Amino acid sequence: MDRIRIVGGRRLEGRIPISGAKNAALPLMIASLLTDRKLTLENLPRLADVNQLTRILGNHGVDYSIDGKRKGEGETSGQTVHLEARVIVDTTAPYELVSKMRASFWVLGPLLARMGEARVSLPGGCAIGTRPVDLLLMAMERLGAQIDIEAGYVVARAPKGLRGAEIDFSKVTVGGTHMALMAASLAHGTTVLHNAAREPEVTDLADCLTKMGARIKGAGSSTIEIEGVARLGGASHAVLPDRIETGTYAMAVAMTGGDVLLEGARADLLQAALDALVETGAEVASEKGGVRVRRNGGDIRPVDIVTEPFPGFPTDLQAQFMGLMTRAAGVSRIRETIFENRFMHVQELARLGAHIRLDGDTAIVEGVPVLKGAPVMATDLRASVSLVIAALAAEGETIVNRVYHLDRGFEHLEKKLGGCNAEIERLSNPG
Ligand code: UD1
Repeated sequence: MDRIRIVGGRRLEGRIPISGAKNAALPLMIASLLTDRKLTLENLPRLADVNQLTRILGNHGVDYSIDGKRKGEGETSGQTVHLEARVIVDTTAPYELVSKMRASFWVLGPLLARMGEARVSLPGGCAIGTRPVDLLLMAMERLGAQIDIEAGYVVARAPKGLRGAEIDFSKVTVGGTHMALMAASLAHGTTVLHNAAREPEVTDLADCLTKMGARIKGAGSSTIEIEGVARLGGASHAVLPDRIETGTYAMAVAMTGGDVLLEGARADLLQAALDALVETGAEVASEKGGVRVRRNGGDIRPVDIVTEPFPGFPTDLQAQFMGLMTRAAGVSRIRETIFENRFMHVQELARLGAHIRLDGDTAIVEGVPVLKGAPVMATDLRASVSLVIAALAAEGETIVNRVYHLDRGFEHLEKKLGGCNAEIERLSNPG
């Protein structure tokens, strides 16, 4: 299993290209199941989760091809892929595939809408809480599906097709909103989603579905109206930049000090997180080519945050922000309201010398002047990158084990940081 070795203490200087958003790429790829025409996605990141979803979609009958590199394109440029689901050959998504990635459960919506049936294994994914699917199933039931749970599988049937309905989410759910958007696009009649997720990735999916012929109003707000259509067609769509990757590298710069241009990043996608960074003492500026983050000397100021659905501070940046706060000049309180059990990085950060105490859904972080490198273990996708951030500022060597978690969501992490003066390398283990 690969490991990453980091020797801390260097300032980050230079440019980091920001990839297409993983959390937009996955639902966009799944949307290819809704049509027998070709869906072309540009700026798709090269990630383990994207590859895994390719396998899952292939199992349903989606043909997948990747454009070769064009002249002048580097390794970090996003790829262009074509997905074509001319015939759905199988409406079952098996346990062996779905258990590796929770988002693959979302195939249920489009398969049900197009084929009138789907059989999808209950999901696995990051171990960050119980993560139920009750709201996703409620949405499909509201659209007229009959849902049964059989031997670990959700079996959904709507032989006469789905019908538009009012769907009221009791809690904001990104996956529930994605799935309802896709399914309702092919339902008979009009659907209204109340308390819909407002995340930029939802808007990106709605934009792509609209290009495919869907009729959607209000994406990006908490009420979305979808007028179902009989068929959807092909489209070409560029995946929006990854706001979590942007925030992660922004926090890394705030941690080490330095000056980095995050190329292609959009500040409006993560304003709450950037505002928090500015409070810590970093400078953040939108420029033509992206977002520039700087910090020159001075203390890292402690800042309290609470994770919230968009436009609040994202839960997917909570661990990284905690990494930064371990070196702050004072005490900060970090409250996680989206997922219980999303504090697995706390024990690992402690191995680097961080002082963190947990009190229910809140972590109380007492900043320390020095972190010291140590062997640590990646536990989930976002938690593991918080260890990288801490290691970049720690004295001596840190080895991050189990980096397959990082590979699920960060494209060329060691190359991107290494290109900005960090001392970081991947140690490949043949075994
Ligand atoms: C997505 C993101 C993930 C992010 C999360 C919250 C992708 C691939 N993943 O995950 O990175 O951390 O949004 O921004 O885009 N819930 C229920 N019942 C349900 C569904 C959800 O109670 O049926 C709860 C969850 O347990 C959680 C909250 O709702 O407490 C939000 O979850 P949700 O927004 O659905 O997360 P995901 O879509 O799985």
